[in-house]
Amino acid sequence: MERLSSKAEVHGAVLAAKREGKSVALVPTMGALHDGHLSLVQAACARADYVVVSVFVNPTQFGPGEDFEAYPRDLEHDLALLAAEGADIVFTPNVSAMYAADAAVTVGPGPLGGMWEGAIRPAHFSGVCTVVTKLLSIVGPDLAFFGEKDYQQLQVVKRLVCDLDLPAKVVGCPIVRECDGLAMSSRNAYLDRDERAAATVLYRALRTAETLALDGERDARVIATALRDTVEAEPLATLDYAELVDPVTLQSLKTLDRPLRAIVAARVGATRLIDNMAIVPRQEQQ
Ligand code: PAJ
Repeated sequence: MERLSSKAEVHGAVLAAKREGKSVALVPTMGALHDGHLSLVQAACARADYVVVSVFVNPTQFGPGEDFEAYPRDLEHDLALLAAEGADIVFTPNVSAMYAADAAVTVGPGPLGGMWEGAIRPAHFSGVCTVVTKLLSIVGPDLAFFGEKDYQQLQVVKRLVCDLDLPAKVVGCPIVRECDGLAMSSRNAYLDRDERAAATVLYRALRTAETLALDGERDARVIATALRDTVEAEPLATLDYAELVDPVTLQSLKTLDRPLRAIVAARVGATRLIDNMAIVPRQEQQ
């Protein structure tokens, strides 16, 4: 495995792999890697001959007052994990290598980027779209792997790649959870002991929603209310939103007449957590 920090070096290495007829996968990350990230790397290694993992804490997707400075960074540990998974290249640009000082053009996410996370973090998805477009341009992968953990991000990136005709296929991968259901996240490291215990409320709320659907509830508003009530019953959690939405357009829906997505965001102490789950009406589960 090679660690490369310049765009030109990565571009050159990928070009050489392509000349050998290898298929190329990209796994974009911000580092502080856990088993959720590594599941994407494993999926990439299974489906492509040459795997590039980027580790870059992207400043443009953090708002003022968010945790860009405090975001966990542990590159040596990340490199060891990625070597063990069999990644070929780890791309570790610094901010000035990634963004020219006079960079002026950004990529907008369109309407999807103004909803849910985008309503709370206004410039977030523009930062994500800009950096993902740049990474796809630099690496030029056949496949790009993203986790369903950031479900809205996955839908935004799919639209980005489709609408701008970017020549890569986006592959979504399932959420990896801790034993007690908490979705793995680099930000879980911010939680103290009590908050860590309380943080399972997102998963518990999603399972409540899933159970209602399994029991035959078709009113999406009833299910969304149960989702909210469960989160609000946890004293250490403050709910941002909890909804049942169309899996692609992310619009709220009133009736569970096809598979929908339950999405939830809450702060536990000072830490913002997001989670989601597919909610399937009873007849489609048989
Ligand atoms: P980051 O939060 O580091 O996540 C990198 C990728 O890992 C994302 O596609 C995310 O959805 C996926 N991931 C994180 N936790 C996961 C889990 N528990 N199970 C499955 N997949 C998980 O998302 C970003 O970085 C950035 O926005 C990025 C796309 C790299 C652009 O800067």
